[in-house]
Amino acid sequence: MAESVRMRITETRRSYHEKSDEELELDRHQAPKGISDRVALAFVKVLRFVADAFFAKRYGHRAVVLETVAAVPGMVGGTLQHLRSLRRLKDDDGWIFTLLDEAENERMHLMTFMEIARPNWFERFIVVFTQGVFYNAFFLLYLISNRTAHRLVGYFEEEAIISYTRYLEQIDKGEAENVPAPQIAIDYWQLPSDARLREVVLAVRADEVMHRDVNHQFADTLSQA
Ligand SMILES: [Fe+2]
Ligand SMILES: [Fe+2]
Repeated sequence: MAESVRMRITETRRSYHEKSDEELELDRHQAPKGISDRVALAFVKVLRFVADAFFAKRYGHRAVVLETVAAVPGMVGGTLQHLRSLRRLKDDDGWIFTLLDEAENERMHLMTFMEIARPNWFERFIVVFTQGVFYNAFFLLYLISNRTAHRLVGYFEEEAIISYTRYLEQIDKGEAENVPAPQIAIDYWQLPSDARLREVVLAVRADEVMHRDVNHQFADTLSQA
């Protein structure tokens, strides 16, 4: 594919890549307000527990499997906001593009980590099974309460930030090899040609911070509506 087609960094995303760790507020946690936030948070914590038990410190494999899940909500939200805009004959205030870009961005995380960790057959089975369940469940949740759906994603992203921070620590300690960045990542994030895994993980983590902020913001906007 032509390189130019891969270079799809939006201005907002670029601004996140330019922020320092302090500005990114890596450990920012949105305190749950009300029952739906608590349900969303509890669900994410259960999932975190399961993922920790299954993947332990295999962060490359963890990234591959979880990014196949992470790329779903943006597409579901984008589709449903698109239909809502058509139905109500009303503008979306940029939500659709933001959500579809999130889905694309998460899929590029997946394509990148596929170059670093190859899932085994059991992980591939989990990917297929989880997609069948999660796509439909998230679609239903979004129909019932889009606010809860965005809050859920916000909390997912908080956990993703923690996981990528641990992955970085592993790279820094030499426990994970700081291999050269895959070409697909260099093209997509416009990294220097000699970039390494560490720079890729930093870029991915900044993306997750943006998803966290956007989704919590969307949930807040919907709860005020
Ligand atoms: Fe991601
Ligand atoms: Fe994300």
